[in-house]
Order: sequence, then structure tokens, then C-alpha cells
Amino acid sequence: MSTGSVWLATSEQQQYPALGQDLVADVVVVGGGVVGLTTALLAQRDGARVVVLEADRVGSGTTGYTTGKVTSQHSLSYAELVARQGEEKARLYAEANQAAVERVAELAEQVGIDCDLTRAPAYVYTLDAGQRDKLEEEAAAAVKLGLPAELTTELDLPFAVEAAVRFERQLHFHPARYLAGLAAAFTAAGGSIYEQTRVLDIEEQRDRTVQLTAGTATVQANQIVVATLLPPGTLGGYFAKTRPTRSYGLACRLRGDAPRSMAISIDTPTRSTRPWLTPGPGGLIVVGNDHETGAADVDTQQQYRELEDWTRVTFDVESVDHRWSSQDYTTPDRIPYVGRAPLHHMVWVATGFQKWGLSNGTAAAMVLTDLLADRDNAWLPVFDATRIGDAQAVAKLIKDNLKVGKEFVGGRFDHPVEQLAPGTGGIVEYDGHRVGAYRDQDGTLYAVEPTCTHLGCPLHWNSAETSWDCNCHGSRFAVDGAILDGPAGEPLEQLDTP
Ligand SMILES: Cc1cc2nc3c(=O)[nH]c(=O)nc-3n(C[C@H](O)[C@H](O)[C@H](O)COP(=O)(O)OP(=O)(O)OC[C@H]3O[C@@H](n4cnc5c(N)ncnc54)[C@H](O)[C@@H]3O)c2cc1C
Ligand code: FES
Repeated sequence: MSTGSVWLATSEQQQYPALGQDLVADVVVVGGGVVGLTTALLAQRDGARVVVLEADRVGSGTTGYTTGKVTSQHSLSYAELVARQGEEKARLYAEANQAAVERVAELAEQVGIDCDLTRAPAYVYTLDAGQRDKLEEEAAAAVKLGLPAELTTELDLPFAVEAAVRFERQLHFHPARYLAGLAAAFTAAGGSIYEQTRVLDIEEQRDRTVQLTAGTATVQANQIVVATLLPPGTLGGYFAKTRPTRSYGLACRLRGDAPRSMAISIDTPTRSTRPWLTPGPGGLIVVGNDHETGAADVDTQQQYRELEDWTRVTFDVESVDHRWSSQDYTTPDRIPYVGRAPLHHMVWVATGFQKWGLSNGTAAAMVLTDLLADRDNAWLPVFDATRIGDAQAVAKLIKDNLKVGKEFVGGRFDHPVEQLAPGTGGIVEYDGHRVGAYRDQDGTLYAVEPTCTHLGCPLHWNSAETSWDCNCHGSRFAVDGAILDGPAGEPLEQLDTP
């Protein structure tokens, strides 16, 4: 079995150079995921000179690690949206996401992207009779909002369900090939992409331009789009208005055909399935086992074991070929923040997609492209990046931040560094100090200061991904301290060891 995204392992990625000189552009897009590349392509087509700066490689963020469903069905969402936001805003959200599904299909066709794009029904279901009324309410709300939805119990999973909502003509695709295609179309249209180029600082200037610092180079632009999953540092305060959660994925080959539809359960733990087309009709993707990033009480290895056990009990599995995990951010009212960042004029953001960013992120790109070109966008009121939210959202925000506050309490260590076995890591005692250490299979010891460089929370060892994860706002670091995810802008301090 290979560890890492099935999508990155089964696609060819064009390499782009690192930024080596100062630049001037109309629009700088920071981040080469679905939001950044869709915005970049649409803005370049609008006539702007657009530059994309990507810290790692195009597709290396969450987009390259998704389930690859492009749907306006976001598990259960519409009944709650109507109840909390009112019918008008819920309708805008539905319209934006259904339009995003169609925009993905149009772009793939126009640009000629070979990304296994396939129309299929999407189902959200429950096995619990006590949850049936939630599905009924969801179906009624979705139909009222004009979505292609119906209540059913008929789906092609190998078990009976109590209730399900079916959305017609949704999409699944190969997300890494889709991104590679967007990137190629963008550069063919005259845009530039720089990889291995982390933006370290964003500063609005009095002459109404924005200056970005990336390594030793600076970029001057009229507008900047921050499409980094979560804005870096403290920009817009989004780190305190979102929560990071991880999920786990498997790509399997079944003996016999896999279900052709997409499905997701509302039961705990969540199970999300869709066909994996690469190996033929027996290919299946399974994603599930959500938990907060860096949660102290979660055994990350156990998440893979549970997911695989469920898959083997439910389907006739021949092999599990790939496994991976990734994360996304949720907002207190479960609607992404898209638009102008608070206290900024020329900085635009899109974040908080709650694991539905292929559709929501494409919708965000459509909103941002209109805003960059000074056009009105009808969907903006629902996504407004400066909103505070309803009373329920504010209460959730306060609860989340109280929880984060507790993370600042100092921790213990597990054992002296000498007792760290090959292939294991954790908080250990070295020379009287708490140290974050990992010993690889060859015996090489990596030691870091186990304190997050974002805002100083203690880090937790993630044994499944061999990384240091922060529960406060989702920053993650490699064993050598390099930044993997999240709002942190500095690597961890490396410590000398024997
Ligand atoms: C397991 C899992 C399954 C999912 N499945 C689905 C699904 O089936 N359907 C769906 O709609 N959504 C799904 N999602 C959610 C969806 O994939 C994300 O919401 C979406 O990909 C976010 O796109 P993005 O462009 O905002 O972020 P990303 O794809 O993470 O891109 C951000 C990019 O910014 C770069 N970056 C970060 N900081 C900097 C910096 N300082 N300077 C320069 N570059 C920087 C990163 O390297 C990264 O490449 C899933 C999420 C998870 C975790
Ligand atoms: S991510 Fe904010 S303190 Fe770690």
C-alpha cells in the first residue's frame, strides 16, 4: 500500500519555477489549489495580468487529497441553512454551488482537461431510523430551493438504508488532473505560476498597492487573493473564526464492481464513497473518520484501521492500494468566508469550506473574479468574509476559542529520548527539557521545539503522518520542523541532539 494521495500518485504534474526576481502584477493569487487556480484562470481571461505564488507544488494542498466529489449536496446542509439564514440566503448558497458544479464541467470541457469527469447521483443517507426525519427535512428544503433532490431508500450500496436524499447529475473527477489542467490553461492564457514560493508577508501600501514578500523577492500588485485554505498568520482573524478537522482516505480494488454513485452517511463515524475509475469498475474511494487536527486524545493510526475494517466488512476488498489524510476548516455557521478581508481594501480571501471546497471553492472563485473586476455578484451576501454570524455562530465561536485557550497549558513528556524506538516519535525528555523527537527507521534522531510558531500552542505527535500537529488552528510541521499546513509562517526550531 502506498501512503499519500491517490490523486497525486496517479497524475503527472508540470513543474513551475520558484520566484527568483521582483515582480509587478495586476492580481497576485496566493495558493495553487482549486480556489487559487480557478480564480487565476478566470481573472486572466478577464484581462488582468495574474501571478500565482504557491508555497509547495500545484495541488499539494487539500485539493490534491480530497474525495473528488463536485456536488451541491453538502451532507445535510439546506434545512439548517433555511432555519438559520432564511430562505433567501439558503437559495443563494444552493444556486452558487449548483452553478459551481456546472462551471467545473464547462471549464473541463472548454479547456480539454482529461480528469475522468463523470456525472453521477450523490446520496446522503442514514442507517439510523431516529435520523430519518432529518433526511426528510433536507429533501424538502433542497426541493424548495430548486435543487435536483428527492427522498429515497434506493441506492447501490451493499446494505439497506433507513433514508437517503438523492441529488441528480452531480460530478466526480480526478482532482489533481483537473488542477494540472487549470494550471496549463492559465499559463497558456499568459499567466505565471511560481512554485516553492511561500508568501511570508502581505502589506497594503498607501499608494493602494499590495506588497508581498516571498523569500528574498517582492511582488507589487493592485489586488491580492489569499487562497491558502486558511489565510496565513493572523490575516483577517480567520484562525480564530474556524476549526480544523482531518479525514482519512483509502483507494481500494474490489472483487466485482464498486457502486457507481457517490454516497455519504450522516452517522458517526462518517463514511463517504465514490468510484475510483483508474483501476476499472472495481475501484472504490472511501473517506471518513473525521476529528479535529492535533486532538490530544486521538490515535491517528487507529483512524486508518477503523476505516479499513469498515471497508473490508462492507465490500469484497481485493486490495487497499493508497491511504492518505488531509484537513479542511469549518466556520461556526457552516458557510465559507469569501470576499474582502476585514480592515483591508485590496486583499480578498476564501476559506472555511468544511470539506466541500471543490464546489464551494469554485463558487468562491466565481465571486472573487467578479469582485476583482469590480462587478456585482449576487451570491456575495451569503459568503460575506466580514460577517460576524448569527447568535448560534457567535456562541460556537466563543466555545471554540475557550477550548483553544486550554491548549496553552504546558504538557508532560512521555519518556527519556534514549528510549525512543526507531519509527516512533513523541514528547521526550532530553537534557532536562521537553523536546519533540522522532527517530527514523535508520536510527537518525530529529528533535524540534514542540511549540507552534503561529501563536505558541503545544504541538501533538501524529504517529500516522509522522508530523507535529497543532490543535489550536491546524498548523502542522514535518519531523524536521518544515511547515506542512496551516497559518504558521515559520518552521519549528530544530534542536541539537546526541
Ligand atoms: C479528506 C478530505 C476530502 C475532501 N473531499 C471533498 C470532496 O469530495 N468534495 C469537495 O467539494 N470538497 C472536499 N474536500 C474539501 C476541499 O478539498 C477543500 O475545501 C478545497 O480543496 C480547498 O481548496 P483551496 O484552494 O482553498 O486550498 P488548498 O487546495 O489547500 O490550496 C491552498 C494552497 O495554498 C498553498 N499555500 C499555503 N500557504 C501559502 C503561503 N503562505 N504562500 C504560498 N502558498 C501557500 C498550499 O501549499 C496549497 O497548495 C475534502 C477535504 C478533505 C480534507
Ligand atoms: S496554529 Fe495557531 S497556535 Fe498553532
